[in-house]
Amino acid sequence: MPVTVVIGSQWGDEGKGKIVDLLSERMDIVARYQGGANAGHTIVWGDRKFVLHLVPSGIFNEGVTCVIGNGVVIDPVAVMDEIRMIKELGYEVEGRLLISHNAHLIMPYHKMIEEARDRSAIGTTGRGIGPAYVDKFARSGIRVVDLLDRDVLRRKLKASIEEKNAILKSVYGAQELDVEQIIEEYVEFDKLIDPYIKDTTEYLADALKQGKQVLAEGAQGSLLDVDFGTYPFVTSSHPTVGGACTGLGIPPTEIRRVIGIVKAYSTRVGHGPFPTELSDATGERLRAVGHEFGATTGRPRRCGWLDLVALRYSTAINGFTELAITKLDVLSGLDTVEVCTHYRLPDGRLSQRFSSDVATLERVEPVYERFEGWSENLDGIEREDDLPKAARVYLDFVSRRLEVPIRLVSTGPHRDQTVHSTIGSAAS
Ligand code: IMP
Repeated sequence: MPVTVVIGSQWGDEGKGKIVDLLSERMDIVARYQGGANAGHTIVWGDRKFVLHLVPSGIFNEGVTCVIGNGVVIDPVAVMDEIRMIKELGYEVEGRLLISHNAHLIMPYHKMIEEARDRSAIGTTGRGIGPAYVDKFARSGIRVVDLLDRDVLRRKLKASIEEKNAILKSVYGAQELDVEQIIEEYVEFDKLIDPYIKDTTEYLADALKQGKQVLAEGAQGSLLDVDFGTYPFVTSSHPTVGGACTGLGIPPTEIRRVIGIVKAYSTRVGHGPFPTELSDATGERLRAVGHEFGATTGRPRRCGWLDLVALRYSTAINGFTELAITKLDVLSGLDTVEVCTHYRLPDGRLSQRFSSDVATLERVEPVYERFEGWSENLDGIEREDDLPKAARVYLDFVSRRLEVPIRLVSTGPHRDQTVHSTIGSAAS
């Protein structure tokens, strides 16, 4: 089983951090393949809580080497802050964190352009992600490797900042940047990041040859994918399975397990269509009980029922071989639990097809199957058979509809609040 990929199946915030943290116990390498500091992975140990934005959550397992792949866009300030925090917690980072020399850097002007463009239109996180990927594909980005040669860095930065200054001034009427000051800052950053820079593609190829176990960790969720998500209300990278190959340089033939992380209900942060959104007391309850506030921006997340139409789409794109259901505990105490199985189209027809077209998706009406709820607190449950019967019925339905077995059920943020499951295994 050389490569396992962990993917958010919905709109992000499915609880991938905890699952990666758990799985990394059996891994040699945990590698992040896309996104940037827009992600926030929350890890809880005892009464301690950490949020990681860039460094893979496997860093807290000492035998694991963590990789930030070429597909990630790196905010120097964020990555250095995280390294400092991890060191303060007593973990060795040098030699255990490798940053791809081909990863692109987020520059101060990326955040400025995002702000100036009015990020409220999409509801982006303000971390400069979109503008950094624009530069990458316009072939004017600055990469980690550029830090190694001061002259190259100076030349590229000067050209880029001059261009950005013209845009900031004439298009947005915003303040211009000081070229020399930015060059100084990045030269400083170079000294700090130097020990971590590596040709991570070569490193991963060698590791796979030696039979090492690699966990590829996606950020955000499949429905925020720039191609497959609800464009333009998406992020600027590929959280879906193909992103693991291009964002790390690993061949698809090495991927044996694709784990879809499914939150037991749905959430979305930022704008864009969300067919099962609940704007009522149940939605508010899910937000309050599930602590559904952004780990990066603190924004309240929009909440709703599980959407099997969207999940079937996500399963088709990613080829999930198994599912991990998270936050099942949040549903405890509800009289009934609903699951969207179809969309009703404006002409009255029922459809199981998810359209990523925003105009179409905004007009569909969710059709629900209703399940009996359960009142039991799920804390302390270790065995699948000890889950309330109604919860098992709910999970069984989800697994059957998606035709994918459920291997893990998370019932709380702590490592031990996890139940190994065989639900749907016979069918797989
Ligand atoms: P960006 O990634 O900052 O460009 O934001 C684009 C969209 O993706 C916005 O709707 C964000 O709220 C959303 N987004 C970005 N990162 C995350 C995440 O980690 N979880 C959930 N939504 C995210």
